[in-house]
Amino acid sequence: MAKSASNIAPIDAAKTAGAGIEPAARAAIAEQLSVVLEDTYSLLIRTQIVHWNVRSRAFLSIHELTEQQYTALFAAVDVIAERILALGFHVPSKQGSVLSPKGISLDPKADADEMLEILAAENEACARTAREVAEAADEADDLVTADMLTARLAELEKAVWMLRAHKTQG
Ligand SMILES: [Fe+2]
Repeated sequence: MAKSASNIAPIDAAKTAGAGIEPAARAAIAEQLSVVLEDTYSLLIRTQIVHWNVRSRAFLSIHELTEQQYTALFAAVDVIAERILALGFHVPSKQGSVLSPKGISLDPKADADEMLEILAAENEACARTAREVAEAADEADDLVTADMLTARLAELEKAVWMLRAHKTQG
């Protein structure tokens, strides 16, 4: 997983949850969760951009699918952010950078299949990261984070399937 510069700040380790998880592991997981959070925000915004700009004979279906997905992503960022807090760290403020996501550019005039494939690929990339962090959390006995990310993984994999199922070709 790509590592970002560490800007995660502890709250007060003595007063936080995560009992039974090594402090260093907690910091590492919180740091990785901040990357998951950033990726999730990026995916949320790009899903909305497709929701607004897509043009297709299946417009209504894609419009409704992407609305369901960005609504679920909005709920997910809250859950991820609150897990960072529960691990004893502030949520980093760099999420303001999501309007310049690191993914592939998304042309607002692209055809529907291209937009759907870009979103599917971005969901897959998020799923890869979620799986890696879930495995790291599991190894550190952070079962709560592992469980949360396993649930995210199921949503992301379902999104990949549904987005590709709306393509008219390939
Ligand atoms: Fe809308």
